[in-house]
Amino acid sequence: MTDALIALEVPRGLPPQSLQCRWYSEPIRLLMLPRTSFLRNGKGYPVLSKQHQHFLTLLLRLRFPPWALLSDCGRIPLETTTAGGESEPTPGLTPAEAAASRLRDSVDDPTQHLQYMRHLQQSQPSRPPIERFGQGYQDYMQSPLQPLTDNLESITYEVFEKDPVKYEWYERAIALALKDLRALLGDERQVIVAVAGAGRGPLVTRVLQASRKTGINVKCYAVEKNPNAHLLLQRRNATDPLWANQVTVVASDMRSWPGPTTTDGSLTETDLLVSELLGSFADNELSPECLDGVQHVLHPGHGISIPQSFSAHLTPIASPRLHSDLLSRASTDISLSVSEKWEIPYVVMLHQFDYLSTAAVPATAEGPRTPDVQQAWSFSHPVPAEILAQARQRGAGGTAADTGTPYTGPSTNDHNARSCTLRFACADRGVCHGLAGYFETVLYSSPNDSHKNNNSAQQTIELSTNPVTMAEKSKDMISWFPIFFPLKTPLFIPDGGEMEVSMWRQTDDRKVWYEWVVEVYVRVAVGEEGGRKRMRVGISELHSSRRNGCMM
Ligand SMILES: C[S@@+](CC[C@H](N)C(=O)[O-])C[C@H]1O[C@@H](n2cnc3c(N)ncnc32)[C@H](O)[C@@H]1O
Repeated sequence: MTDALIALEVPRGLPPQSLQCRWYSEPIRLLMLPRTSFLRNGKGYPVLSKQHQHFLTLLLRLRFPPWALLSDCGRIPLETTTAGGESEPTPGLTPAEAAASRLRDSVDDPTQHLQYMRHLQQSQPSRPPIERFGQGYQDYMQSPLQPLTDNLESITYEVFEKDPVKYEWYERAIALALKDLRALLGDERQVIVAVAGAGRGPLVTRVLQASRKTGINVKCYAVEKNPNAHLLLQRRNATDPLWANQVTVVASDMRSWPGPTTTDGSLTETDLLVSELLGSFADNELSPECLDGVQHVLHPGHGISIPQSFSAHLTPIASPRLHSDLLSRASTDISLSVSEKWEIPYVVMLHQFDYLSTAAVPATAEGPRTPDVQQAWSFSHPVPAEILAQARQRGAGGTAADTGTPYTGPSTNDHNARSCTLRFACADRGVCHGLAGYFETVLYSSPNDSHKNNNSAQQTIELSTNPVTMAEKSKDMISWFPIFFPLKTPLFIPDGGEMEVSMWRQTDDRKVWYEWVVEVYVRVAVGEEGGRKRMRVGISELHSSRRNGCMM
């Protein structure tokens, strides 16, 4: 549906969860609750079943919750009679239930259904942290940040810094890596740590805290190309007692930073490189390109990168709300032409949508369905030296996008191109409006088994926005909303259909962009031996963000 508003009458018997989820994704404006949808509790008061309450809770959390309309719930005549004088059957109720219900309604308070609804409204469970944090941002599409080409504002950093999980997990990963480095380098040697893309310094603080807690002496560098953030870093170095003027603040694109220097002024290498350059789809803020460009400062033997790896994940979704929002954006967004708005991904706190492909067996009959979220591709750091050497040989030298200074990173970027073809089974028919994208990252996975003996120390520290793994890996993390790759023309998928998603991360050595296309297949019987053939029944346009790619 697009642009239509729906009135939904909620029946006494709710349909399977897959259908309720489809209802939920549609623009329901009016929710009609007839008397027959209510049950009676032990004291004879009208109540809704647990399933109805759950469905209502979902709808009440929407950015634009529907109006609830109670129908046929007030005082009613004792008997509803037909023209022939017989009692009329009440739909959904047995004759005995109908008689009892009519009798109670006629003698009791006629507002009891209304009072119950108000009670439900007031006793709603509290929203999960990400929803509280993103209140007002549900289904609001924004262009992804480009921290490499744009300089972020202080308020944007302040929002990042509110995350209750991300920095804590980074500190754990840093502490683990410091312990492994000490085991390798010995107690005497100071561990050299660089925070690449330090922003206002929250990760620098975590490095210093990890150092203090583990008792491992560090020399810390904070590298940042945003001049405004650089000033804040300097101030913090001078005023924060934990920093105590011990941090070397470097104003530079990380790709053109020569590296730390020793007391005699000669260049040396870092043992640990900490960065947080991840976008909603992992690599969409050019983390791979930036980390390649700074890898020359990392010790080629024992140097550790936090994060060690990251991966992009996706799943097809139905979201009439996002589709109609994009349709209506025709003339308002001056930065994009009418057709280009379909050719870029958006960062969005997905809310009123439905997964089109879910695991065959739901975790529990009542519980949420598990979406089929598949990995598109991944990146690992540090990159093997031969790969960077080959890239350097193929190109003729690069220039850091913002500074114009020559940088030492590879000058062709082919090794950071990626592609995938993923198949998604869709048990129930539906309409695909685009792809939801997420990421996972391994901040640090220690090869050292001795951490296992320490109960509180996990060996692998990960972050995830993937709905399937987030609760296990980084529950309540709020820093990232998902990404949405729209389809210009929605695609219908029949019952038992299959979607094939092809996606590319493309690069021309100056910028990076994404391309995506979705096909729909069914399996049809062929011949008399029960053979089945895969037949394509739908295909989307090829979408490409090349014209609005991310500059390197
Ligand atoms: C997502 S922010 C993270 C900031 C901070 N580490 C935090 O966690 O709050 C990424 C930071 O990296 C910086 N950055 C991005 N690319 C960079 C580059 N090539 N060289 C230096 N800094 C860079 C941006 O200016 C921004 O401050």
